[in-house]
Amino acid sequence: MKDSEEAVSGYLDRHPYLASVAGFSQQHTSISTYSATTVVRAPEAVVRGRWSPAVEGFAGEELLLNHRRSNRDLGMQLGVSRYYAHDAVLSTAHSDLRERLDAAIALPEHRRLKTGLSSTVMSRRSGRGFSGKPATLDELATVLWHGQGISGSLPVPTAQDPDAAVPLRNSPSGGGLYPIRLGVLAQHVKGLAPGAYEYQPHSHTLHPVRPTPTPVGLADHLWTADVELDKVAFALVYLYDMYVNTQKYGDSGLVYALIEVGGISQNVHLARTALGMIACDQGGYDKQQLEKTMGYDGTSRHVVHFTLVGHGEV
Ligand SMILES: Cc1cc2nc3c(=O)[nH]c(=O)nc-3n(C[C@H](O)[C@H](O)[C@H](O)COP(=O)(O)O)c2cc1C
Repeated sequence: MKDSEEAVSGYLDRHPYLASVAGFSQQHTSISTYSATTVVRAPEAVVRGRWSPAVEGFAGEELLLNHRRSNRDLGMQLGVSRYYAHDAVLSTAHSDLRERLDAAIALPEHRRLKTGLSSTVMSRRSGRGFSGKPATLDELATVLWHGQGISGSLPVPTAQDPDAAVPLRNSPSGGGLYPIRLGVLAQHVKGLAPGAYEYQPHSHTLHPVRPTPTPVGLADHLWTADVELDKVAFALVYLYDMYVNTQKYGDSGLVYALIEVGGISQNVHLARTALGMIACDQGGYDKQQLEKTMGYDGTSRHVVHFTLVGHGEV
């Protein structure tokens, strides 16, 4: 404000891109009275419409507005304290019983990756140039284990089961409830028939999803302009069963689940980087189609993330 008009226009002349930057930012504060009636509600139109009282907002904004946490929130305290009861503790300790061992496919033990952490973190880049080279079962197992595998346990002795212990995984989870599961759409994995599977961390197996679409037909499950989908070795589908953690955390359950997806995803990316593989997260997936393929209802059980993995061109 202290600058003279001359100084400001001189500054703008030296930095001509500023006009575009300001223009773009202002789009989000201008009011469009039509954004409620527009057929295609692009995010930009929704954000603009927020300034008009007649318009509904993002579902995400509703969640954030209602997601108020404080020590005085009795509902949250009650939900959490319920999980200290012996039946809740025991059911968490024995979550392995939920795995389907009939027709389960055993995975080889994960590889121990020796690459340095800093260099792996720094060389992790999203890659889109898949070569079509198949992944090995050992590579798939190593990626899955680093994302979700069991690597520890927390003793929770109860009168009914003095040896009870909650199996702990390689990625953190609110209350050790692990509401995220990893689905696999296999296209080119040596020793594994193409199809849809779910990773079972306790038994380190794959459960075939029925009916298994063969081949998977990745092009029916996402839209991308940059990837030759038939050259992807496998895709990972992040699945969220909201009743697993909302019974304890209410609306925070979704927030925690999305944080957990990030943790699992980073482990997946670091493991595939150390294995010399490429991968690219995909935001443009067809949620309903993926849910249909994975046998998820899209009501309480949702697809929340999607990643393509394989070998790159050399
Ligand atoms: C949630 C999420 C969704 C993404 N969606 C896409 C996508 O649809 N297509 C794509 O090519 N890359 C996608 N990416 C990858 C980003 O473009 C990439 O991470 C970003 O450009 C940074 O580059 P880097 O991962 O190579 O460091 C996505 C990444 C995340 C985390």
